[in-house]
Amino acid sequence: MDRKLTPGSPYDELAQAYDSPVNQAFYGAIADCLGAWVPEAGSHPERPRALDLACGTGTSLEALSARFPGYAWEGVDASARMIERARARPALESLALQVARAEALPHPDQSLELISSSFALHWFGPAAWSEVWRVLKPGGWFVGSVPLRGRRPAHPGNEALFRALLARRRQARSGAGAGLSEGQLRERLEGWSEVSFQALELEESFPGLAEMNRILTTRGSVQAIFGLPALPPETRAPEGELTFVWKIGFFRAQKPS
Ligand SMILES: C[S@@+](CC[C@H](N)C(=O)[O-])C[C@H]1O[C@@H](n2cnc3c(N)ncnc32)[C@H](O)[C@@H]1O
Repeated sequence: MDRKLTPGSPYDELAQAYDSPVNQAFYGAIADCLGAWVPEAGSHPERPRALDLACGTGTSLEALSARFPGYAWEGVDASARMIERARARPALESLALQVARAEALPHPDQSLELISSSFALHWFGPAAWSEVWRVLKPGGWFVGSVPLRGRRPAHPGNEALFRALLARRRQARSGAGAGLSEGQLRERLEGWSEVSFQALELEESFPGLAEMNRILTTRGSVQAIFGLPALPPETRAPEGELTFVWKIGFFRAQKPS
């Protein structure tokens, strides 16, 4: 079982506000970078099957399916409300979208050629990694993006979040603290072949702390980092615009043939 999501995903609450323009721009930019790691489908009599795992409201799935039409795409997510919104996207209306958890995928063994997962792996329990392995065909690819743990970038937004986290470390739910370190990611990909990895930084500016708090909350990021629904109110930051730098790991790995 995963540690952070109990029945009733926090994303059920977040689904309504999740697709704001600022969030679409953020997750869209990550999905575009992830696209660079997706192998072309090649030519087959039948389109190979690709799954966007934890597709949410469909931002990553829409970007990847438009860019790689050679795959027959589908999506799953643990949150019924997120899937409902994905189903309402005209670009996804012909795709199969299901409510399912990464730790118990509804797919038969060795049935998929590609699995993508954008900005969601840090929520998954350990069983998800064996599920991905189980449902991929030999020679199939796993591509993903994940927030990276590691040295904190020295920017005002990151500093404010880090100070809040330190001040609240007792209250933060155990297991909170989003992201995987590069080492943890490499460990989870042991046994895979053709593993490649790159860390990129993505900078965002917010008009101030209150707005940063509001936006990160709608994304689920505050929940992921603190295990709490919102930033502690006494969090302090300098007045005016706040920059926040995300360190994001991108990878791809192949299941050996
Ligand atoms: C930050 S959103 C990313 C969604 C989408 N990939 C995108 O780029 O917009 C994380 C998603 O992971 C989903 N999620 C979290 N834990 C999950 C699990 N164990 N199995 C399946 N989905 C999960 C959440 O419901 C949420 O939709």
